[in-house]
Amino acid sequence: MSSQPRRLLVTSALPYANGQIHIGHLVEYVQTDIWVRFQRMRGHEVHYVGADDTHGTPIMLRAEKEGLTPKELIAKVWQEHKRDFDDFLISFDHYYTTDSPENETLSQSIYLKLRDAGLIEMRTIEQAYDPVKEMFLPDRFIKGECPKCGAKDQYGDSCEKCGATYSPTDLKNPFSVVSGATPIKKLSDHYFFKLSDPRCENFLRDWTQVKTPLQPEARNKMKEWVGQPGESKLGDWDISRDAPYFGFEIPDAPGKYFYVWLDAPIGYYASFLKYCEQTGLNFDEWVSPDTTTEQYHFIGKDILYFHTLFWPATLHFAGYRTPTNVFAHGFLTVDGEKMSKSRGTLISAHSVMECGFNPEWFRYYFATKLNDSLEDLDLNLQDFVARVNSDLLGKYINIASRSAGFLVKRFAGVVNDQAMDHTLITHITGASETIAALYEAREYAKALRTVMELADQVNAFVDDNKPWDIAKDPEREADLQRVCSVTLEAFRLLTLYLKPVLPNIAVGVEEFLSIPPLNWGHVHTPLNSQSPIKPYKHLMTRVEAPQIEALLAANL
Ligand code: 2FM
Ligand code: ZN
Repeated sequence: MSSQPRRLLVTSALPYANGQIHIGHLVEYVQTDIWVRFQRMRGHEVHYVGADDTHGTPIMLRAEKEGLTPKELIAKVWQEHKRDFDDFLISFDHYYTTDSPENETLSQSIYLKLRDAGLIEMRTIEQAYDPVKEMFLPDRFIKGECPKCGAKDQYGDSCEKCGATYSPTDLKNPFSVVSGATPIKKLSDHYFFKLSDPRCENFLRDWTQVKTPLQPEARNKMKEWVGQPGESKLGDWDISRDAPYFGFEIPDAPGKYFYVWLDAPIGYYASFLKYCEQTGLNFDEWVSPDTTTEQYHFIGKDILYFHTLFWPATLHFAGYRTPTNVFAHGFLTVDGEKMSKSRGTLISAHSVMECGFNPEWFRYYFATKLNDSLEDLDLNLQDFVARVNSDLLGKYINIASRSAGFLVKRFAGVVNDQAMDHTLITHITGASETIAALYEAREYAKALRTVMELADQVNAFVDDNKPWDIAKDPEREADLQRVCSVTLEAFRLLTLYLKPVLPNIAVGVEEFLSIPPLNWGHVHTPLNSQSPIKPYKHLMTRVEAPQIEALLAANL
């Protein structure tokens, strides 16, 4: 373990405040949370912050539809999101909202710094406008007939029927989704962040290609976007929207609002700022360009562009540090297909709890699929049942029940201290840095495979030694205590290795083994005869196949 504790600020993407958290979102929060818990166990200083992403047209219109003000809607959704994160043991240190005074102040001050740097430009552009609703229409609020096959009710970017892609102006008989009116063209002044400025291009080329150890797939994508020196590939970024818009007003530009994607990532900092104010941490020390602290963003691959171009450029030219790295993951499929409402596979986090699932089953299953790449990952429902029951219960939990009973009944819960030198224990402790390196690299699938291989070896040890037979021989008391002590210490070590993934199970085990909360350093603090263990209590139940049917039905 490194001797100097690192200081880490970690975020997950901010979910929009107009919908439920579903299992697709959970993959990311679980991925981040495992990493955060692991870093805490290593003794590092970690601050994990999040927030709801609250601004923009869809949220404004959704509130209207529900007969709420946007602020009422986002307050309601915040409660639901927070409940879901707590249910899935996502250990945010602070969970906030982008609609906060801190975010407004920060967004406006960052904007003014960009403007002072000569990187903001006003231009007049023509856009689709709903003359009935009296608002400009984002592309997804315009529908019409496909210009290629004539299919009705298609969105402005692509046809769901024939797959053609086009721009909203190509649609035949276009109409506004909001009012049904035919959109007209209207001019309006917009504010642009000049990413095409050579200073920005050079900075981003260096940041994405040299300075930041991005994932190779991400770096290659960025290479296409930023182009070669002198190529000028980046377009300027439109950061303003016209009223009516739910968001923050742009300084010196009445009736103009920041586009949601400008203030959303600043929301990471605003959440952290609020938390710093609450806890006495020095915010400036974390965000100044010469900081020694680290900053990581976990995101889905669909929003790489925002996090590896817009966000670092925003930070850099406003005088802040830039992210240490951005970790993108792939999308979740269910049984090999895109999640779908009609198949019931767009599974909400809340329904998982309502259907009596143990959230740690999902944490474990997702972890068995996660690695450091952008590849999609699949939730195969049959495999889910098999992995939970055979790996988690059959291989791991079972070890405790196989050894604890004898120790409690026959030895008052006292382990044999000499047993701690057993080669099986040395072998398991010897894997600790390999497993740590895998967690650090977000190679959770490999980490868990390694842990399950160790669990196989522990089960083989129990099978070979047959404590149930030894127990019948009154002359082999010492043997019985030794075998059960080795097994239980092995179980403690496996629990330590799994703790980032299974934090609740770990708490149950700590309680039953009478040990303080496990951290990574405890690899070398074996159970000892001075603190007897308590009687084994059931730690986890099996998942039953019919529960899966019920879950799908609940999401139809
Ligand atoms: O794509 C999304 O769901 C966005 N709400 C993510 C925002 S992440 C951050 F930049 F705020
Ligand atoms: Zn079509």
